[in-house]
Amino acid sequence: MKKVIVFIMCGLFLVSCNNSSGYEEVTYFTVNGDELQRPTDYRKWVFVGTPTTPNDMNNGEAAFPEFHNVYIDPQSYQEWKETGKWREGTILVKELVSVGSKAAASGNGYFMGDFIGLEATIKSKKHFPDEPGNWAYFSFTNPEGKELKNTASAFGTNDCNACHAANAKDDFVFTQYYPVLRAAKGIGADVIPENSGKREGTKKVVGVWDPAAPTPEGLDTEIPLAKESLFAYLQSGAYKKFKTQEKEMHPSQGPHTQIGLPVRVFMNDAIATSLAENRDEHPLGASIVKEMFNDKGELAGWAVMVKTQDETEKGLGWFWYEVTSTTDSNALAAMGNGVQGCISCHHTGGRDLVRTQFPFNN
Ligand code: HEC
Ligand code: HEC
Repeated sequence: MKKVIVFIMCGLFLVSCNNSSGYEEVTYFTVNGDELQRPTDYRKWVFVGTPTTPNDMNNGEAAFPEFHNVYIDPQSYQEWKETGKWREGTILVKELVSVGSKAAASGNGYFMGDFIGLEATIKSKKHFPDEPGNWAYFSFTNPEGKELKNTASAFGTNDCNACHAANAKDDFVFTQYYPVLRAAKGIGADVIPENSGKREGTKKVVGVWDPAAPTPEGLDTEIPLAKESLFAYLQSGAYKKFKTQEKEMHPSQGPHTQIGLPVRVFMNDAIATSLAENRDEHPLGASIVKEMFNDKGELAGWAVMVKTQDETEKGLGWFWYEVTSTTDSNALAAMGNGVQGCISCHHTGGRDLVRTQFPFNN
């Protein structure tokens, strides 16, 4: 309905209407030549997030100290919601705030101090036809004094634009650090993401022995992680080609399947190298297969650990799997990331939750 009215208004009053989404084009900035006037009123825009690069985590001199409060003009946010694209005329402002206190009644942390700078980026084919993506970057921060500059000229492409082009997730904008924009991307003009009860980022921490913990999909790991293909892989014995393997079984120190029963560990190169280098966190793809034997020395199942991301995240970054049969893929003790029963014991020793003595005893 609203859009129709805008169209009519455009027709009647001859407002520039070349926007394909049918929105009236409202511009929130003024450019003269290559100079942008300092944006005002942006604290009434949509707040996007606050990436934080404290000086004391950056050798005392963060490139952009310290809190970065990012705002986007409301019209661009609305069109981003509808189309998932940045419109001609998008402006994002980044207001820099120092770290004030590092302790408060709520605990230790980083608390905002004073406003110390202002940066902005605009997407404008009209004014910057030659910049990659038509994005131009500006700083109103005045290193000499506390007064912001009233105008700023666009930086050279390599000063700002190139890093954004190479690293930002969505057309030069770092949406990977802005959940507000991720939640809004292309969901429809009338949907209000903040009213949804859904919290995408909250990883489910599953029950102690939940055999159906979440398993990441689409990862290209050396060991397949889907239930049937993993079981087939184990049955095939393909892991025996790993160069780093125990020469013989050893009595398990853990309940695999029972303390004292024999086990034998095989490691792929990623985990063997990482252990040899004594790394704190093993890399994505680090994979371990442990053969488990019964009291007659016959193979009776397998336990598997595969790192599915570089960060351990309290054990959620490991895929856990244990099966207590060599013929029945359903005889699962556990499968998936975040199996607390496995994590709770593995985190009590070893390096990044790997507990087998390394280098191997045999
Ligand atoms: C080495 C990489 C790099 C360079 C160079 C760089 N930026 Fe950024 N910029 C980032 C990252 C990462 C973010 C998001 C996280 C943050 O703010 O720390 C960001 C965010 C921004 C934002 C918020 C909107 C957005 O696109 O996410 C603005 C505005 C911005 N930068 C301006 C500038 C300006 C002005 C320059 C040049 C003086 C510049 N940047 C140079 C990496 C860079
Ligand atoms: C009560 C403690 C305990 C629990 C619970 C436990 N483990 Fe272990 N696990 C160990 C110990 C100790 C080792 C060291 C090797 C050995 O002697 O068996 C080990 C070794 C392993 C290994 C060989 C790699 C390594 O870390 O050394 C894998 C794979 C493994 N466990 C998987 C699992 C899985 C999957 C679960 C959950 C289903 C699990 N573990 C639950 C104690 C435990």
